[in-house]
Amino acid sequence: KRIILLASGSGSNVENIITYFGKHEQVAVSAVLTNKNTAYVLERCKKLKVPALYFNKTAFLDTSVVFDFLIAQNPDLIVLAGFLWKIPQELVTAFPNKIVNIHPALLPKYGGKGMYGTKVHEAVKENGETETGITIHYVNENYDEGGIIHQAKTNISPHDTPEQIAEKVHALEYEHFPKVLENILLKNG
Ligand code: GRF
Repeated sequence: KRIILLASGSGSNVENIITYFGKHEQVAVSAVLTNKNTAYVLERCKKLKVPALYFNKTAFLDTSVVFDFLIAQNPDLIVLAGFLWKIPQELVTAFPNKIVNIHPALLPKYGGKGMYGTKVHEAVKENGETETGITIHYVNENYDEGGIIHQAKTNISPHDTPEQIAEKVHALEYEHFPKVLENILLKNG
């Protein structure tokens, strides 16, 4: 089974997933795609020896580039791990229930365009939430709206800074994301 990861930033989840499947019998990460040629995820892929490709907005929206690459690769799962662009309808249609995203909050709250990074944790803190968490969901043509696959929660206190909340959420991501992906890929046989 092959996974292709899409990321726009640091790529700590990308590294965690690559490492988790590093010695796996049935699952491998075949490539990482990024829309930021300065993203640290590129450094991580170099170190981990996983092919990483950069593409710009034109290439992403021009279905003859990224779309054709993904069709040719025909991955079993396309995984968004901190990828900040909406997925074009053609791609959603071409890979039904095969595009998965992780969001650092308990959707449907704190989701949607612009809700990413510390903005999410600031909003959670602002609203005095006593818990937050992660949502792993299928991707459709709107931000953070597809069917929810898995959620995990963590308690937070009013004293927690957004950075401390982010740390608690990242810990959940590292613990849950690879296992959820493994279940999706191997459960479907
Ligand atoms: C993660 O918090 C993830 O939930 C969100 O973007 C962040 C990516 O972090 N979608 P990293 O690039 O994997 O470190």
